[in-house]
Amino acid sequence: MSRTLIKNIKTIYTSIKKPPVKGKDMSNILEIQAGYILIEDETIKEIGSVYKGKETDVSFVYDATNLILIPGLIDSHTHLVFGGSREHEFSKKIAGIPYLDILKQGGGILNTVQQTKNASFEELYDQAKKSLDQMLLFGVTSLEAKSGYGLLLDTEVKQLEVLKKLNENHPIDIKITYLGAHALPTEYIDKRDKYIEQVQRDLEIIKSKNLAEFVDVFCEVGVFSADESKKIFKKALKLGFKLRLHSDEIESIGGTKLAINLNAKSVDHLMAITDEDIIRISKSNTIANLLPSTSFFLNKNYAPARKMIDSGVAIAVSSDYNPGSTPSENYQLTLQIAGNKLRMLPKEILTAATINPAYSLDIADSVGTIEVNKKADLVLLDAKNLDYFIYHYGINHTKAVFKNGKLVVNNKTLVKE
Ligand code: NIG
Ligand code: FE
Repeated sequence: MSRTLIKNIKTIYTSIKKPPVKGKDMSNILEIQAGYILIEDETIKEIGSVYKGKETDVSFVYDATNLILIPGLIDSHTHLVFGGSREHEFSKKIAGIPYLDILKQGGGILNTVQQTKNASFEELYDQAKKSLDQMLLFGVTSLEAKSGYGLLLDTEVKQLEVLKKLNENHPIDIKITYLGAHALPTEYIDKRDKYIEQVQRDLEIIKSKNLAEFVDVFCEVGVFSADESKKIFKKALKLGFKLRLHSDEIESIGGTKLAINLNAKSVDHLMAITDEDIIRISKSNTIANLLPSTSFFLNKNYAPARKMIDSGVAIAVSSDYNPGSTPSENYQLTLQIAGNKLRMLPKEILTAATINPAYSLDIADSVGTIEVNKKADLVLLDAKNLDYFIYHYGINHTKAVFKNGKLVVNNKTLVKE
């Protein structure tokens, strides 16, 4: 058995609320000053102020003087695996051409679909692994990742298999989502119904190969309607998938209500959420997954986070990492934008980056808080306090990361096996 002691921690910050953590409970954060953590193998064994055992009984001691400790960050919405990049669309975006117009002209998601189709398994794997390494350096220890740049089955399966292999090989835990309904493939223009039927059939194959745990749909004007989303979701539920939904990013067309009624784990984006749906989600166990980096990069409005918190909604904040609307692996920047633009407080943001996303991914029993018997997924930050972490923006505050009790980032660099 290996025992690790992290000692002299300036302050330990963690939520201790039972998830989903809603409304004002989001700012209920336990703070332990001058603390220590004792880890046995993968698991947190002790948390306290003064370690009473002998340091010689411990295999590894980490001196965390001047560092603060938070739970491993959990990014519950990414499009991690894709071919190529889309910097050629950046100037169109700067010139003010709307996102959905670029998509209509065969660009946007459809451009990445072509590049993902052309890329080999190894190319996709290597590119995504590079991103994962970056994310780990920023303190992310678990994340959700979607397909959705294949649309047609073969490339969707290729993306999902890349994710499966990355999950086996990389320290970050990956929860996998099938997003065949991310855009209408060019092959199905004027045959919308046929594509919905195709996705329903593909779901059976994805299930039989055990390639995904969740199913997502991009429910938006010009993409998929609430009715089409419902057809896909009904089939997904029958097959035993759990649900997430891209909804209310640009307009509110009924997806949020649908997802909540079907007990979806999360509804994501929500920049255009209606007051009615804010009440509806506050009464449910569905997490409102806000993606402020996307608003930032697309120069769009921000989700009404304050109103949601005041109405008792449980919020997560995620990166939405993807080549079109959020080409940045810097999850800490996302959290800092949540402070500045969603007007969320640092304690609320910590809840939204740890226990609530863990809940939406069904991993809250083992991660998302610093508690005895949970996995030792921990991030040491070179920051004076939690407020400083959110306020001093754009840099990487991570000093060290423990994943399953193992030191995987030390002195801001990846620890090689
Ligand atoms: O979540 N909104 C839909 N999907 C992505 C964008 C994907 C892309 O542009 O490639 C998003 O923002
Ligand atoms: Fe997305």
